[in-house]
Amino acid sequence: MNKHQAPITLASLHTPVRHDSGPKHVAGAAEYIDDMVEPEGTVHAYLALSSRPHAEIVGIDFSLVNDYPGVLGVLTAEDIPGENDVSPSHKHDEPIFAQGEVHFWGQPLFAVVAETRDQARRAAHRALVTYRDLPFIADVRQAQAEGGKLVTEPLKLERGEVDAGLAAAPRRLKGSIRIGGQDHFYLEGQIAMAVPGEDEDVTVYSSTQHPSEVQLMVAQVLGIRQHAVTINVRRMGGGFGGKETQGNLFACVAALAAKKWNRTCKIRPDRDDDMTATGKRHDFVVDYDVGYDETGKIQAVDAVYAARAGFSSDLSGPVTDRALFHSDNTYWYPAVRVRSEPLYTNTVSNTAFRGFGGPQGILAAERWIEDIAYALGKDPLEIRRRNFYGTDTDNVTPYHQVVEDNIIHRLVDELEASSDYQARRAAIIDYNQGSSILRKGIALTPVKFGISFTATWYNQGGALIYVYKDGTVQLNHGGTEMGQGLYIKVAQVVADAFGIGLDSVKVMTTSTGKVANTSATAASSGTDLNAMAALDAARQIKERLVRHAAKLHKVSEAEVHWVQGGVQAGATYVPFGELAASAYLNRVHLSAAGFYETPKVHWDRATGRGRPFYYYSYGAAVSEVTIDTLTGEYTVDRVDILHDVGRSLNPAIDLGQVEGGFIQGMGWLTTEELVWDDKGQLRTKAPSTYKIPLASDVPPIFNVKLADWSSNREPTIGRSKAVGEPPFVLAISVVEALSMAVASVADYRLAPRLDTPLTPERILMGCERLKREARG
Ligand code: MTE
Ligand code: HPA
Ligand code: MOS
Repeated sequence: MNKHQAPITLASLHTPVRHDSGPKHVAGAAEYIDDMVEPEGTVHAYLALSSRPHAEIVGIDFSLVNDYPGVLGVLTAEDIPGENDVSPSHKHDEPIFAQGEVHFWGQPLFAVVAETRDQARRAAHRALVTYRDLPFIADVRQAQAEGGKLVTEPLKLERGEVDAGLAAAPRRLKGSIRIGGQDHFYLEGQIAMAVPGEDEDVTVYSSTQHPSEVQLMVAQVLGIRQHAVTINVRRMGGGFGGKETQGNLFACVAALAAKKWNRTCKIRPDRDDDMTATGKRHDFVVDYDVGYDETGKIQAVDAVYAARAGFSSDLSGPVTDRALFHSDNTYWYPAVRVRSEPLYTNTVSNTAFRGFGGPQGILAAERWIEDIAYALGKDPLEIRRRNFYGTDTDNVTPYHQVVEDNIIHRLVDELEASSDYQARRAAIIDYNQGSSILRKGIALTPVKFGISFTATWYNQGGALIYVYKDGTVQLNHGGTEMGQGLYIKVAQVVADAFGIGLDSVKVMTTSTGKVANTSATAASSGTDLNAMAALDAARQIKERLVRHAAKLHKVSEAEVHWVQGGVQAGATYVPFGELAASAYLNRVHLSAAGFYETPKVHWDRATGRGRPFYYYSYGAAVSEVTIDTLTGEYTVDRVDILHDVGRSLNPAIDLGQVEGGFIQGMGWLTTEELVWDDKGQLRTKAPSTYKIPLASDVPPIFNVKLADWSSNREPTIGRSKAVGEPPFVLAISVVEALSMAVASVADYRLAPRLDTPLTPERILMGCERLKREARG
């Protein structure tokens, strides 16, 4: 190679590089835990689940279980050397195995450990459990009616004179909206494999978004200290929040068995058991009281956000907090009071799910905008605009954070124009007038989503980089890969920092043995935190290499420049591999640990004030639908999206996140319905009864664009913005478009007030109700 000329390699930052595992996903070569070669003597655990929503456990007869071929034994609460608890909130309210009482249908009672998975699974069903039934709380409304025990203290956000504002408002509306929950339906279910080591050591391969928490849980449950436990996560086949805490139990059961029998133990529930025993998105009931004026301008909002927490606290506190943080969406409320009610119920403990309560908060906000629009006979878009946050004034949130980066006006204006919204809306109103059975609707909805963990201490990232003598790099960081493209983005940042090709950077399996005390990969902040930490590590090594190159080539440090493929030291070009080799020979340290803490964020829950979010991500979507008013069936005909990811680190990955997030949100709001029967059992626990979107549900016209002019005003990594969760919320445009189509049956004079999910049944019933009400 010509030593004086830098080779041309692909610049890797801000370019649409494909997902590092893409070809392996397609070829089936990407390794998931169930694909790993099992060590000699691996045994299998299977959970036995309760078949009562609330009952005293009178007794369990294990004789038929223990008799079953291949069974090594059972694990119950009595077999736990440490604590029988995997509560992430440390409220000690989430036992691994029920003790004395069961609190929901599907609660783990014990685990069977056997030579094969099939043996463990069959044996688990052979226990004879005697229950004494107790009264149970089935849902939010029942919980409220019966005194409403909360799993954690409610949050209250308040600003301005709410009661006076409501009283003085020329118009007033009261109502409530029921918002359904959602199963994560990750393709790879919950799974863990624990390998026992010497002394107290145990290594667990876990499908988790939060390896450090799994490490802590395993240590607590085994009654050992954290340094004996190593958690490894190569990738998840989807997490979506469902593996932020819900993997804890499986990892602990595998570790318990591994240590008890000194054999590797794997646990993987069947899909129906996974859906029954693990938490979902919280369903909410929001009761609201809104005052506004004749122009549609909101004067005051008073609302209560009740959510089905389930039998334990889990993350229900933070989830309902985030719902309140999004009770404003893009709207300025002159006076506002919102309160959370995370209610205890005898159902599975609900948990994180893409958006983390934010989508529910925003859906409620869009509901009262819609109510106002129908009450005034106006296009909801006009009411939305009328209430948008200002840029210099009218920009304080209910939690007293000032919105400094508002770009919603430009986003909405551009999307309105590019989607031809106004002309299409006029054409649709025209069409509906002449169409008796088929009706169309169109809606444009905005989103503003707060980025940062509201638990301020979570806003930190760590990384560990090794440079080898041949110029290749191993990159470790605290984030986990669940398909969202975190690994490739952080690799791009590191390749770019060293000026080397992406193929020279290997992203290592995420391990608590490499980076300690990591945060969950959640709150969309994986790249923000871990890429910054990796950049910090790379910077340290680069500084040492510059010093070394200057010395070696007898130039000043200022004369050493990073160029593609290596450094230019005065007149000499040194390829990165040669630089690393000579640095080694000169005893230069070629590894570094990096760290990042998000600046500016602080939050005081007790006073409801602070700056919980470093910045906001924005977006907007227009959806068009056609409904059949005789059957309730419908199609989503066209969707246009304009989304803000700041300056994209990888437009290919980001577009994928926007598209996937939208479709997943559409599933939540349309076809995915959770149904519990009167005995407290979840009946929608398989793809036959629980309907997630198919590839064929992607709208035939789906125009997705990133706002390429956007840049983060805060100095985030490459001025990018988080993308994982915000686009999920764009699916609310489908709800609003469906609402318009339904409203057409009463000439748009009545607010449709549809609850979600908008299954065809609900659309049909909505049409029937509006026709009835219109007749008077
Ligand atoms: N994308 C894929 N393909 N799979 C997932 O499980 N999870 C979402 C989002 N996008 C998810 C996904 C959720 S809930 C979050 S919080 C973010 O990705 C987490 O990753 P990030 O912080 O790296 O964006
Ligand atoms: N978002 C997602 N996950 C979380 C959060 C949050 O704000 N807080 C704790 N876990
Ligand atoms: Mo995402 S719900 O924050 O894992």
